[in-house]
Amino acid sequence: MAPTVLLSCLLALLVAGLAQGTKDSFRVQDPGPRPLELREVFTLFQIQYNRSYSNPAEHARRLDIFARNLAQAQRLQEEDLGTANFGVTPFSDLTEEEFGQLYGNQRADGKAPSVDRETGSDEWEGSVPSTCDWRKAPGVISSVKYQENCLCCWAMAAAGNIEAQWAIKHKESVEVSVQELLDCGRCGDGCRGGYVWDAYITVLNNSGLASEKNYPFQGVVGKKCQAKKYKKVAWIQDFIMLSDNEQKIAWYLATEGPITVTINMKLLQQYKNGVIRATPTTCDPQHVNHVVLLVGFGKTKSVERRRAKAVSSQSHSRQSTQYWILKNSWGANWGEEGYFRLHRGSNACGITKYPITARVGKPDKKQRVSCPR
Ligand SMILES: *[C@@H]1O[C@H](CO)[C@@H](O)[C@H](O)[C@H]1NC(C)=O
Ligand SMILES: *[C@@H]1O[C@H](CO)[C@@H](O)[C@H](O)[C@H]1NC(C)=O
Repeated sequence: MAPTVLLSCLLALLVAGLAQGTKDSFRVQDPGPRPLELREVFTLFQIQYNRSYSNPAEHARRLDIFARNLAQAQRLQEEDLGTANFGVTPFSDLTEEEFGQLYGNQRADGKAPSVDRETGSDEWEGSVPSTCDWRKAPGVISSVKYQENCLCCWAMAAAGNIEAQWAIKHKESVEVSVQELLDCGRCGDGCRGGYVWDAYITVLNNSGLASEKNYPFQGVVGKKCQAKKYKKVAWIQDFIMLSDNEQKIAWYLATEGPITVTINMKLLQQYKNGVIRATPTTCDPQHVNHVVLLVGFGKTKSVERRRAKAVSSQSHSRQSTQYWILKNSWGANWGEEGYFRLHRGSNACGITKYPITARVGKPDKKQRVSCPR
């Protein structure tokens, strides 16, 4: 399709939109709302996410995948017990398999080395606040990153964790180098995936981490580790795995700051916004393959659930839903401006499997490290 045709599609929509808000005299012939044809939706998708395909056959194939994804999004919409909306996303022209290969972390689903869980103190029993959102604290959370064609969610989440913990503990805002984690890591597999602890081991081995500004993200693993070239801006002493109790995780988050979690990312391909409330059937908690940064929690206002099931007016649920707030590394165009929310209290998508955080601070001496096996 020629670009001018695409443009006029957009223009027509725009005019229709404008017309609704203007006086009758100004109104173009208003055909009234009608469902957009699949092809039109696909064209809008292509414009919005700048997608073009090499030939008509490929275009047809992608349109077919797109149609299947929209049907899948509709099913998820019906199954979801929370407030999530599923639909057109930047990944709507990818098969589930492609999505997994492009964004999943192959290694995270492998056999994890045994890392002991902190049982933690019993202090937490007291009070877990009802809400917590570290995005509201200036200088704690850096901008949403885009991992591009590099399976480095593990490094991005670890960097986000170190930045946040450093800012909270040392009252100093830093943005650390993900590229250093990719170029210098010996345990992980660079842009082919890794565990979040591979990143921490690299930070320990390099005695700190350079800044993103000095050692910026390239989207591919560099030929050489350039750790020695730049001064360090943040250090860690060690890293720990937290309890799998979601109340304890919330308490740790509220008192110490953001941590990393590894989840099953299956539902995120079609996710637009809202709180995902999955079940072990819709999102297997054992099959975790994506590392993200947990930055807060809260609960939805007691409003009617969108769920279509509640047909009789009596059964409209006015329950509120507790959720986690997570920072993803798929750019700010995805989800809720780069973030998403998962139900809190049901081990949604395996969120309690690997709750891990670094403990920041300058170590007294260089530590000997080795890759876990
Ligand atoms: C759109 O994609 C093409 C490659 O397919 C690229 O050259 C161009 O820079 C992109 N434009 C934007 C605005 O991202
Ligand atoms: C630690 O760094 C040295 C180079 O300074 C490297 O040879 C070694 O493989 C690294 N070890 C790990 C576990 O990353």
